Amino acid sequence: MAQLLEGTRVRDAIYEELRPRVAALRRPPGLAVVLVGGDPASEIYVRNKVKACAELGLASEKLTPPDTISTDELTALVRELNEQPEIDGILVQMPLPKQVDAREVLLSVDPAKDVDGFHPFNVGLLVGNQPGPRACTPSGVMRMLRHYGISVKGKHAVVVGRSDIVGKPMAMMLLHEHATVTICHSRTPDLAATCRRADILVVAIGRTAMVTEEFISEGAVVVDVGMNRVTDREEAERLFAGDARRLDTFARTGSVLVGDVLPKAMAERSSAYTPVPGGVGPLTIAMLMANTVEAAERRQADAQSWIDGRAG
Ligand code: GUN
Repeated sequence: MAQLLEGTRVRDAIYEELRPRVAALRRPPGLAVVLVGGDPASEIYVRNKVKACAELGLASEKLTPPDTISTDELTALVRELNEQPEIDGILVQMPLPKQVDAREVLLSVDPAKDVDGFHPFNVGLLVGNQPGPRACTPSGVMRMLRHYGISVKGKHAVVVGRSDIVGKPMAMMLLHEHATVTICHSRTPDLAATCRRADILVVAIGRTAMVTEEFISEGAVVVDVGMNRVTDREEAERLFAGDARRLDTFARTGSVLVGDVLPKAMAERSSAYTPVPGGVGPLTIAMLMANTVEAAERRQADAQSWIDGRAG
């Protein structure tokens, strides 16, 4: 029987660690979340981020500029947030509308407030294995593996997907923990054969249940980062054949969530896997909370040493 890697449990453990740290600060950590336009998926993510802040006693501020905003207007907004002392973390929800240059926007975030770890300065710290804010989803995956005692040292880790948000930082983190890492993507010839060589398979390619039995070697650990909403009945019936609970969800709500890996394939072939939902998802937000608390601690310590320096 494959072990379920439950993100909700790991999230609860992270929150328990964070609570006393939040209480020890002089003021609650402040997170600004910028949501441009009304993308429904982004709205749900942002709502959950704001909810998590409330649960942990963080102050959150949600800014919702219209989707007609220009790059200059958005960078000006971010720069204002950079200057606000009570804001410790700034998150600009991706994706951004086409007319906005996302790279410019990410560059405008003060690296000390970059709780997503997307600023090139912080990406550089990651590559150099120096402390700094790390991208939330891959650091959540590392935290999950550690929580369940799954060592990556000396293992062959295969990362499917090469995005700046997940695939690339994921590969770097696994490498720093002494895994042998292969990154593959949509142009990799015979993707299934490469994936079958994985002891640890991390899939973040954004394609509904693309990874099937033939991609997974018996006993591999499978981490499914994908989150896709299926609204087609026939597709739901094919993906969840024999799974009465999930088919019931579809019947009641008209949709069902599935990752980038076929659920039955993970359950039957892996030694441990992350379910969708309830696997990696809760950890992205938990690591965002951890990055925000850490940014607040660092900024408050810096402010204190500045005061101490002047007093001395
Ligand atoms: N869009 C999808 N994932 C993320 C994330 O981790 N951070 C931000 N800012 N946008 C996202």
